[in-house]
Amino acid sequence: MREKDFDIKNPRKKFQKTERVPPEGYECANDFFEDMYMDEDMIWMGQNTNHLHDDTIADAMIEAIKEKNYCKYPAPEGFSELKQLILDDLGLKDLEVLLTSGATESLYLVMQALLEPEDNVILSDPGYFIIGDFASRFADEARYVPIYYEENDYKLTPELLRQNMDENTRMVILIDPLNPLGSGYNEDELKEFAEIAKENDLYLLHDVTYKDFAQEHFNMEDYAPGQTLTIYSFSKIFGMAGLRIGGVISSKPIIDSIKNAVVNDLGVNIISQYGAIAGLKSKPKWFDSMRETCFENQRLIKEMIDPIEGVFLPVYPSQANMMVIDLSGAGIDPKVMSNYLVEKKLFTREGEYTSEDFGDRYLRISFSIPTEEIKVFCEEFPKAVEALRTK
Ligand SMILES: Cc1ncc(COP(=O)(O)O)c(C=O)c1O
Repeated sequence: MREKDFDIKNPRKKFQKTERVPPEGYECANDFFEDMYMDEDMIWMGQNTNHLHDDTIADAMIEAIKEKNYCKYPAPEGFSELKQLILDDLGLKDLEVLLTSGATESLYLVMQALLEPEDNVILSDPGYFIIGDFASRFADEARYVPIYYEENDYKLTPELLRQNMDENTRMVILIDPLNPLGSGYNEDELKEFAEIAKENDLYLLHDVTYKDFAQEHFNMEDYAPGQTLTIYSFSKIFGMAGLRIGGVISSKPIIDSIKNAVVNDLGVNIISQYGAIAGLKSKPKWFDSMRETCFENQRLIKEMIDPIEGVFLPVYPSQANMMVIDLSGAGIDPKVMSNYLVEKKLFTREGEYTSEDFGDRYLRISFSIPTEEIKVFCEEFPKAVEALRTK
């Protein structure tokens, strides 16, 4: 639209946001998500959420609700006990934690507080789009590096970073493990990123939302202290996606700068904080068995996928609670596949949701759900491929 086409009743859209294309039959994406959400029989493999918890976290929140402490405003920066538990969980010391409404709000605040209009930010495609959307609101460019290739192990490598950065690069986004592929970083790779960041004065944003599903995981903060931002979420391993709690961990000067950008100035949901404390305190009791279930679930999926012609898993084992199934060799449009599976009560995500360049090749599925439900998927998926294949 040209400038004169805007007025106060029809304002210009100042910001760009990756469009969520509604599936066939829906006018907007929200209607689709609401339908999925309301369908109690739907098997939930579309959002990398976790459906394996017992009542421990729920009970702590019920207790807190009954005590009616929610009538008061929480301390604006959250419970210190919770912040300490987060640092202990990460094995980090002498750092600040800012609690936010999900990791999402932290991602936004980081971009707002630290980026300048001339900066560019390096991210990967495939990746988690909302991070790039936020970056592009405050920086000159969100620069996506294509990574869907075996030769770079389906991840952003230090070499790819060197090739794509320039003197205006201010921040590098490392989602580790990566949504959607499940690729993760080893210690040597993190050290190399740290060296590049130190030489070039870059921020390293280490989004560790899926860290606990990885076989091994390391902290970027250990290698690039003072210029790392660790993004932490309660949505995945703790199974608390709907409770919207997460945070960012960094050095005091960086967190002080981010605090000045805070929107939620009256604090983070108090019930979620009680749930988060219970989640962290009880973690030793459920952590190993939950991971075992996830490892076993992805093994079952691999066993089912291997014999199917034209279909493969680019990354296996995944270090996250999700994986990508490449359908391109069978000539299947991932959107057609996900619509087909919804009819079978299996909610999955087409690649378009996490990639501009490669989204027409893959379906993303998450597997932190009961093994019985994975078995339903393993029964339905081969039938779906045979029904839809064009090659
Ligand atoms: C890499 C990554 N970061 C952050 C988030 C959002 O986390 P939260 O629910 O804590 O806002 C997601 C959600 O899928 C994600 O994949």
